Amino acid sequence: MNKLYYTILIAGTFIGCAPKITEDVLEVPAQELAPIEVEPDGSQLYAANCVRCHGFKDPGSFTANEWKEIVPRMAVKAKIDAYTEGKILEYVLANAKQ
Ligand code: HEC
Repeated sequence: MNKLYYTILIAGTFIGCAPKITEDVLEVPAQELAPIEVEPDGSQLYAANCVRCHGFKDPGSFTANEWKEIVPRMAVKAKIDAYTEGKILEYVLANAKQ
């Protein structure tokens, strides 16, 4: 009876340890996670939302006036919120064809 009790106890110790080992391995120093919290800028939002259908469309290929029509139209297709649309518009306007 005692032997069985110890077997269960030892097995339990190992099973109990398993998730802890995983947690230790996954633990990342706080400073390495910090950049993820930084707000993505317009170019990153553009890359994340605007290239999956047709690849990268160079902001310099269209004038500011063209972009002001294109971005709202594409925002509907990309299903992005107004904030993201605004950031993307800012980015393409800053790099638009003169
Ligand atoms: C769901 C797919 C899809 C997503 C997401 C998408 N587009 Fe498009 N895009 C299209 C299609 C289809 C066309 C061509 C037909 C048209 O103009 O509607 C196009 C055309 C364009 C053009 C060519 C100019 C023009 O007037 O047709 C530009 C520039 C463009 N997209 C930019 C963007 C930007 C910026 C975003 C992100 C906000 C974006 N697209 C997201 C599907 C998409």
